[in-house]
Amino acid sequence: MKIGVFDSGAGGLSVVKSLLTHNFFEEIIYYGDTARVPYGTKDKNTIIRYSLEALEFFNNFDIDLLITACNTVSAYALDEMNKQSSYPILGVIEPGVLALKNSTLKKEDNILIIATRATIRSGRYESAFKKLGYTNITSLQTGLFVPLVEEGIFNGQIVEATMNYYFSTLSTPKAIILGCTHFPLIGKSLLNYFNNTPLLIHSGDAIVEYLEKNYKLKERDKKATLKIFASDNVAGLRKIANKWL
Ligand code: DGL
Repeated sequence: MKIGVFDSGAGGLSVVKSLLTHNFFEEIIYYGDTARVPYGTKDKNTIIRYSLEALEFFNNFDIDLLITACNTVSAYALDEMNKQSSYPILGVIEPGVLALKNSTLKKEDNILIIATRATIRSGRYESAFKKLGYTNITSLQTGLFVPLVEEGIFNGQIVEATMNYYFSTLSTPKAIILGCTHFPLIGKSLLNYFNNTPLLIHSGDAIVEYLEKNYKLKERDKKATLKIFASDNVAGLRKIANKWL
């Protein structure tokens, strides 16, 4: 199987990292729309338009499946994209919700959802968790982490200051839903900030679990080949990929 992975920028590499640990696929074609990142500050119509335009990129490749490794796109554009595509397109929100459901967390445990402004505004995670009976949920827009990750900054002073800015009034959560694929890249810093206490729910691990269950994929003995493309500064994206992967 040859698959495509799409994100607004470098964040989807966190999903690629999880996919690469499992060797389900022969080839992974990654496309980051770095010319237009961030998507998370845009409105619904713009996110849909950008996502459909990104879909055209994959016309150049004969892929069997596309993973939108972007929560913002998954929240707004998944249906439109699937309507226009001959192969299935999976988002990361449903797998993330199932990952929490399958965890050992109790319904009253405090859960922190962090994501872009657009994803938080969509209310997709929060309403899905409430439907499952979780009662103690805090949703927070933390979009400043996106440009930091795009700059290849995953820890240190600026990351800590940003965490202080967002989290200083919060009590330590039992779980953090990394509702943006850029955030696993600062996962270690997040854990440090919260004294290694919370469980981190990560779109990459969640989609791997989802693929294993729903697609019955078998591991191959060979590593997948990875090809990275971007709408701007592909060298910058490949540099982050080398650092992260
Ligand atoms: N990585 C994207 C997500 O998962 C969003 C980053 C952005 O473009 O704002 O939502």
